[in-house]
Amino acid sequence: MLILAPMQGLTELMFRRAYNQCFPGALDSSVAPFVSLTHGNCGGREQLEDILPEANEGSIPVIPQILGHELEEFVRMADCMADLGYAEVNWNIGCPMRRIAAKHRGSGILPYPDEIRTVLDYVVPRIKARLSVKMRLGHRSPDEIFDIIPILNDYPLASVTIHGRTGKQQYGGSVDRERVMRAAAMLKAPFIYNGDITTTGQLSAVSSQWAAVSNQPLAGIMIGRGILYDPTLPLKIKGIEGDYTQMTHRFVSTLYDAIERQFPHETPRLRKMKEYWCLVYKSLPISESAARAMLRLQEIKEFRQAVDKIIEK
Ligand SMILES: Cc1cc2nc3c(=O)[nH]c(=O)nc-3n(C[C@H](O)[C@H](O)[C@H](O)COP(=O)(O)O)c2cc1C
Repeated sequence: MLILAPMQGLTELMFRRAYNQCFPGALDSSVAPFVSLTHGNCGGREQLEDILPEANEGSIPVIPQILGHELEEFVRMADCMADLGYAEVNWNIGCPMRRIAAKHRGSGILPYPDEIRTVLDYVVPRIKARLSVKMRLGHRSPDEIFDIIPILNDYPLASVTIHGRTGKQQYGGSVDRERVMRAAAMLKAPFIYNGDITTTGQLSAVSSQWAAVSNQPLAGIMIGRGILYDPTLPLKIKGIEGDYTQMTHRFVSTLYDAIERQFPHETPRLRKMKEYWCLVYKSLPISESAARAMLRLQEIKEFRQAVDKIIEK
């Protein structure tokens, strides 16, 4: 099972739709970027816009995600999501952003296993959907996870996704795959691996490492940046062959068309295109300096023509 990771500002509905339009079925599932409980209670249609079922038709199947630990709000939000038709909601206890973690949200709750238990004790028996968890090894120490797993094992979780860094590391350094495997082998819930998969070789290495510690199947591999760097990575993983540069071109064009439709003003439009460009150029036949030079272009038309020229070479 290949799952698109949630990435705030990048993997929202516009991206997921464009992706599924170009590569239907290449990704089996996705987790939506988080909805924060701090923004008030469930309700604001705006808050749930990204996961409205009618808008997600014809897109990658999606699981909504919640960030926060306010008990009543959590249940209310999870039930709103269930009422939209979602059978599973995901709890984000991995977000490393400082201002979030400082309030024991995201990875900030990981040093406090008792607080995790309080949330699960309250939420799991009350919500209509099943709960899954997405976490890191810890916030300050990569060993925090070993105090958390016995707690997670007390609840019927749909799955647990583990990213092999601490919150303090943010995205620096390398993932500690060995420790992820050691921790995941102790889990009762199905395990989903996440972190630094950018090639098929890395995915094979993860699968073999898992097979060495567990006789359970890996429930899934969740990939974020690897797909933004190379949108054809899931096709390569699934053995779908073709002209990958042309496929990437088609996807970038589809995504840029969607950006043009969604952003009415030129400046944010171009900014959004450049955000994706900074990631996707890595899989294209272009040098770093040429890719960076593109960021100096100030007009959409000029920018899109330059992208087409590079890919069509
Ligand atoms: C810009 C950005 C936004 C992210 N937003 C979320 C989010 O909303 N929810 C979440 O659980 N993780 C979020 N993440 C973490 C990713 O889902 C993923 O765990 C991380 O990128 C590591 O996986 P990768 O190496 O495959 O990219 C975000 C990461 C980045 C870089």
